Amino acid sequence: MIGIGLVGYGYWGPNVARNFRQVPGSRLVAICDQSPGRCEVASRAFHHCQVTSRYQDLLENPAIHAIIVTTPVGTHYELARLAILAGKDVLVEKPMTKTVAEGEALVQLAAEKRRILAVDHTFLFTEAVRKIKELIDQGELGELLYIDSVRTNLGLFHPDHNVIYDLAPHEISIVLHLVERDPISVQAHGVCHTSNGVENLAYVHLEFEDDFVAHFHLNWLAPVKIRQTIVAGSRKMIVYDDMERSDKLKIYNKGITIQTPTGVDARCQAGINYRSGDMLAPHLENQEALAVEAAHFVECVRDRTPPLVPGEDGLRVLRILEAAQRSLDSNGQRVPLQTPNRLSKAA
Ligand SMILES: NC(=O)c1ccc[n+]([C@@H]2O[C@H](COP(=O)([O-])OP(=O)(O)OC[C@H]3O[C@@H](n4cnc5c(N)ncnc54)[C@H](O)[C@@H]3O)[C@@H](O)[C@H]2O)c1
Repeated sequence: MIGIGLVGYGYWGPNVARNFRQVPGSRLVAICDQSPGRCEVASRAFHHCQVTSRYQDLLENPAIHAIIVTTPVGTHYELARLAILAGKDVLVEKPMTKTVAEGEALVQLAAEKRRILAVDHTFLFTEAVRKIKELIDQGELGELLYIDSVRTNLGLFHPDHNVIYDLAPHEISIVLHLVERDPISVQAHGVCHTSNGVENLAYVHLEFEDDFVAHFHLNWLAPVKIRQTIVAGSRKMIVYDDMERSDKLKIYNKGITIQTPTGVDARCQAGINYRSGDMLAPHLENQEALAVEAAHFVECVRDRTPPLVPGEDGLRVLRILEAAQRSLDSNGQRVPLQTPNRLSKAA
């Protein structure tokens, strides 16, 4: 039986706790939150679970094998570090840490102590993203051209981090997972509509080799919730609408073919022919991503196997976030990134 401890029972923690409670072969042993009010809420929801405001209680409990960190990002590094030092495996919320330096230290510590360090990039466990990945890997889309994503809402204005650190981890983790390579540069523009200097609207642009690009519109100040991504390939294109209850994915057999002119015509521009075929909406299992992720993490802890999203992948996302912040701070300048790494294919 794998014992689980959870620290941080605010907005997201209850979702994570609820899903871990249902994983066969694991037991939610304890929940910790520094707020007495949140402890009271947790006690009401989880009768058979220890609820405490002392993190030390989780660290010292031998029945806890793994700790899940669902606190604000500024606390991730220290809480995860203490957990690893106490011999626990760790699943930490996105973004993994506040800085790249913290992320590097955490990855190194986990490797030294032979502990599992996984990052909650929830969307990689959705049926929709799994299906898109499958279609790309099978060559169904042809050559990938771009990914264009919109993630807007009348969202919570966080005082301590901007909309990029809040929402871009989802987009970046999806793109890196799908294309299995890292961008060569990042550009970001953003604006703050309040007096605290924290950007609530941003546009982030990732440039990859071979003219592939990814672009995200991230916005806490929109009248409607939009979660829409276009994945465009030379053969087919996908529209992924996460707000749809069914038909989240629509695969369009649409695109262009370019005729290269020969002879006398070569002086003319290349001709563009439009292709417009059928649309297919594949059936997707209606499974909660967190449930799949919780079961996967428990399996990794039990079998000592590498997680789908190891700390190294959390670090890749962080490097892009930091570069995006540098670009934002310099009025949208293009920030080059170091030599692209291949994403580790752990699972
Ligand atoms: N994967 C996702 O889709 C997703 C969605 C939402 C939030 N998140 C992530 O989850 C994390 C938490 O976000 P949230 O919206 O739940 O925040 P929140 O502020 O609502 O909740 C955080 C909780 O942690 C507690 N806390 C803070 N420091 C603590 C400490 N040192 N020890 C014990 N308890 C402590 C607070 O009292 C609070 O109850 C963030 O990293 C966020 O990015 C992920």
